[in-house]
Amino acid sequence: TGYFTYDPGFVSTASTRSAITYIDGDQGILLYRGYPIEQLAKQSSFLEVAYLLINGELPSGEQFRAFEHEVAHHTMMHESLKNFLNGFHYDAHPMAMLCGSVASLSAFYHDTLDMNDPEQRRLAAIRLIAKVPTIAAAAYRYGIGWPFRYPRNNLEYVTRFLHMMFEVPSEPLELNPVVAKALDLLFILHADHEQNASTSTVRLVGSTGANPYACVSAGIAALWGPAHGGANEAVLKMLEEIGDAKNVASAVAKAKDKNSGFRLMGFGHRVYKNFDPRATIIREMTHKVLADLNVSDPLLDVAVALEEVALKDPYFIERKLYPNVDFYSGIIYKALKIPTEMFTVMFAIARTAGWVAHWLEQHVTPDAKIGRPRQIYTGAAERAYVPVDKR
Ligand code: CMC
Repeated sequence: TGYFTYDPGFVSTASTRSAITYIDGDQGILLYRGYPIEQLAKQSSFLEVAYLLINGELPSGEQFRAFEHEVAHHTMMHESLKNFLNGFHYDAHPMAMLCGSVASLSAFYHDTLDMNDPEQRRLAAIRLIAKVPTIAAAAYRYGIGWPFRYPRNNLEYVTRFLHMMFEVPSEPLELNPVVAKALDLLFILHADHEQNASTSTVRLVGSTGANPYACVSAGIAALWGPAHGGANEAVLKMLEEIGDAKNVASAVAKAKDKNSGFRLMGFGHRVYKNFDPRATIIREMTHKVLADLNVSDPLLDVAVALEEVALKDPYFIERKLYPNVDFYSGIIYKALKIPTEMFTVMFAIARTAGWVAHWLEQHVTPDAKIGRPRQIYTGAAERAYVPVDKR
């Protein structure tokens, strides 16, 4: 009974009011709290962007130092969480480990489970931003059989993460500053994107009053799919399969064939219909990072050729399908020596800032309600039960 708007995929439904991120999909505009992504990418840092997303304003020098200090103070994971991580199968996907371990944080931090206390909510947000990189690095090291590394709190956020990933006991890590800078920039570009599938998931779970660790874990699960954050891993696998620029035309033909079940990964976006401003920044950055690191990757040639062919093809033109943020990011991650199965984990580290900003915002939104969509029922009309011997 009743009449509902039918909007599969929520193409035209605004689920909330939000003051965090603005997107104009036709103009290719992306603003965090009013600041253009291009300016933040050039001038800010990921942790400053995290502060901005959460608090609404850029921090003063003093505010930033206090925030950085507080985040650093919460980077350690509980020693018992190591037992939890050690219980995973040896070849577990790091996204599975991240998803499960972040949910398990609710079993460790009971002092931030009162959703009505603003200070507890703030502390939970800080804990998540601080601990997700530690857990992410541990998930990677578990997979390759290396001992976990403690976070070095005298380092800044991204460098600290790279140390936790790559440092070997008794051998100082010689980190090229180009690597830390590139990762910081990728984190800025991935930090928030208004009501995408994972953020909407965090908000939907949050709308029931569930604890923040469970909410973010649900967001990680939503991010994992290849139509969303899993696309960066899928793009690299696709480029490897294509293998050579001479195979690009047949890959494009396959993507146009609806029966093939194959889509060009890293192409298309629900909101951006002319270009994805993040992809523009990343494309430029890919060439620069590879040059700065003196890396030549034949996959970059495949990607450039694929983009060229697809952008001239009427199928992609008519449907307004352009490279999205994930098309080139995998090539950069690869150049930074981040293994393919960690790509979506990288996305999750960055998006944690956005998820917690939205989770905090929803708790102070005056007309916030439990998320509870309706449906168009297509099943049987009412009928009488038939006993099993009469069926
Ligand atoms: N390759 C081939 N055809 C495509 C593609 C693609 N990558 N994307 C969309 N289409 C076609 C689709 O078949 C449909 O054609 P038709 O109108 O003839 O039925 C039309 O374009 C519209 O597609 P849609 O699936 O209705 O669009 P959507 O807004 O529901 O989906 C999307 C958006 C991003 C899920 C989709 O474009 C896609 O699957 N892209 C590949 C995966 C990807 O790169 N995801 C990352 C998104 S950006 C970062 C993030 O969110 O994490």
